[in-house]
Amino acid sequence: MADNQKIPFLDLASLHQELEQELLAIFQKALRTAAFIAGPMVEEFESEFSRFCGASQCVGVSSGTDAIRFALMASGVQAGDIVLTSPFTFIATAEAISQAGARADFVDIDRRTYTMDPEELRRYLEKNCVIDGETGHCLHKASGNRVSAVIPVHLYGQTADMDPILELASIYNLIVIEDACQAHGAEYFSRKENGWRKAGSMGRAAAFSFYPGKNLGACGEAGAVITNDAAVARRVRMLRDHGQARKYYHEMEGYNGRLDAIQAGFLRTKLPYLSNWNERRREIAARYGELLSGTSTGLVLPYEPSWSRAVYHLYVVRTEEREQLLERLTKAGIGTGIHYPVPVHLQRPYRLIGFKDDDYPVAESAANEVLSLPIYPGLTPAQQDRVVEEIAEFERSMERAFSVQPSARA
Ligand SMILES: Cc1ncc(COP(=O)(O)O)c(C=O)c1O
Repeated sequence: MADNQKIPFLDLASLHQELEQELLAIFQKALRTAAFIAGPMVEEFESEFSRFCGASQCVGVSSGTDAIRFALMASGVQAGDIVLTSPFTFIATAEAISQAGARADFVDIDRRTYTMDPEELRRYLEKNCVIDGETGHCLHKASGNRVSAVIPVHLYGQTADMDPILELASIYNLIVIEDACQAHGAEYFSRKENGWRKAGSMGRAAAFSFYPGKNLGACGEAGAVITNDAAVARRVRMLRDHGQARKYYHEMEGYNGRLDAIQAGFLRTKLPYLSNWNERRREIAARYGELLSGTSTGLVLPYEPSWSRAVYHLYVVRTEEREQLLERLTKAGIGTGIHYPVPVHLQRPYRLIGFKDDDYPVAESAANEVLSLPIYPGLTPAQQDRVVEEIAEFERSMERAFSVQPSARA
């Protein structure tokens, strides 16, 4: 491959070219039957995706954000409650909490996995909360509000360490909603159950996004709630459809949050490929690991604990020289991303309600140093070699600068 050929951060066009005929057939079917809302395409996808996740219920909704909001509301989170989550996530996790009428509070992340640190969660609950003797509710001592739920985020395609989180949730009577928006097919080894569990099958409910760039992506907006709780699924079905279980009989106020039938058809077409795509992502990640640890790059590579089988939605390295490396890769025509440059608690809406610098130092330092390299099933070994060679050359140039001007890097 020519050195000047660009390597995109993500190549969705090639993937869709391969599936073009199958996807066009779905569109044609929808046009000919005029089945645009609900119907068999949605139901078939729901039943196949719930099976994929190892759960009994799937409710298709219009986005991952709505999936989190509906999962919270349907599981019993009330207006005024506090819901705990990670500050190192896409803002949608926290937005959905506010949209459900609750208030987000944060628990810092583990510095190696970037997911919620269970020890931090324990500290938060022990320091800030008390269990009400009468109701069994977990109350926030300072505000008196109920802390009703926790949302661990399975970031970059790797689950949070769920055993200790589930154990704390059971002690403190918290509802667990998994944010699995980046983790379709990721697996977690539960020491407690001595077995592997799929992302989305461990909490009261879980939210998935099918935003186009996800491991399983729609050709537009889409999401789903996964749960083993039939009552939660029933409430989500009503919430997504104006609060009705029967047309024009509304048991509550709901939303227009349904999964579009054409998107369901596209997702159903893609789902049989997902396991292979995930396997391919794992191979690419393993190869990055081998190649990058063979160079003297000094990059911190992704950490996959023994309890995790990650699906590498993103391949994220870490370096103090992130901005320089990003600039070099950009100049070389290599696409990168930063997920995420500002942790949620330091985004304006959360600063306005009192969050500030140093509140969550692990998330804050990660936000300053993480860099996502190209990863997608179609990334070729030659492209990968070029990414690694650019990084190695960058490091050599930094070493040269270091040997000439030692103080410059101090
Ligand atoms: C961790 C996380 N949570 C929630 C969302 C929201 O999903 P959507 O964009 O489908 O609303 C995303 C999507 O990017 C995400 O990555």
